Amino acid sequence: MINEKIQPNPIIGAEVFTGMRPTAEPTLANYLGAVVPLLKLQEEGKKPVAFVADLHAITDHEPKEVKKVTHAMVADYIALGLDPEHVQIFIQSELTPQLAELSIYLSRLVTVSDILRVPTLKEKLKPGAEEESARLFLAYYPVLMAADILLQRAHIIPVGKDQASHLEMTRRIARDFNSSTKKNVFPIPETQPYDAINIISLDGIGKMSKTKPKGAIFLNDSPDIVREKIKKAITALPGEMNEVLESHLLVAQTLSLTEEEKDLIKQFKEDHLKGDKIMTDFKKLFTHIILRFLDEFQIRKQLIVNDKDYVPGILEEGKKQAKIQAEITIRSVREAIWGE
Ligand code: TRP
Repeated sequence: MINEKIQPNPIIGAEVFTGMRPTAEPTLANYLGAVVPLLKLQEEGKKPVAFVADLHAITDHEPKEVKKVTHAMVADYIALGLDPEHVQIFIQSELTPQLAELSIYLSRLVTVSDILRVPTLKEKLKPGAEEESARLFLAYYPVLMAADILLQRAHIIPVGKDQASHLEMTRRIARDFNSSTKKNVFPIPETQPYDAINIISLDGIGKMSKTKPKGAIFLNDSPDIVREKIKKAITALPGEMNEVLESHLLVAQTLSLTEEEKDLIKQFKEDHLKGDKIMTDFKKLFTHIILRFLDEFQIRKQLIVNDKDYVPGILEEGKKQAKIQAEITIRSVREAIWGE
């Protein structure tokens, strides 16, 4: 047994629960945005349940491509510090039958106009496209997300602020289900929205994203590529501050390991604002801090990947526990709906 320390109680449900869509090439922005908050919860002694949202990913990606990256993503998350002894990890599609059944019942409580009001629907469509042109599965996204959460009877959901409307719908569905069946099947999940750290593209234009590879640092970039990218990175003139330099300073602070480094970064900022020309020295430290972080990540990832049974073993254990929870929930749901 791998996850001996996790003993979830299927009746009470998951204390902290979150999902992450598998993306092919994680960037530093993905790490700082999605993984750092989970690491904080882990440090606080919570036992988060984290799943790879592969069904959600196929709303806009080819299933075969998604499948290729799900295991790699689990290896990335573990290499970034998620400790499988404390975090239960599973793949969403392992629970397809239970999610499908639950979401049928939940969709009785959702109107078409509720769905059309969800702001992420518009955001996910091509610019200018009408909501009516959305695939049904994309429109269904919030219902499936509610099913993810309610199937695990989850209590606290740490997600980025962009997910707030989905969480609001989940809470409303849970309340309506409980009151319409007069059974307290679901806990009402609390959101724990965090301000995802906003990392700016190195060219200063928009967010750091894998769709703009030149402005992004990928966790698997080689040192030469990183040096080159940082050399070209946009900053600000001495005495001036802008969004992209703020972002560099924040990344440097977040990844720095010693008080000395943190003080040095603060000093750079002060000197820069006074009008001193410190950018060459700052970039040197910035490069050093990022390369150290990537080097550690890449070594850990290699060790994880070299052990062919490691990730499958963790996922097997995660699946077992998630399934126990799912089946208990489904039984209560059927009883509440059909009176069986
Ligand atoms: N929609 C989330 C995102 O894009 C991922 C997700 C799917 C999720 N189901 C969830 C997060 C359930 C929390 C709980 O980031």
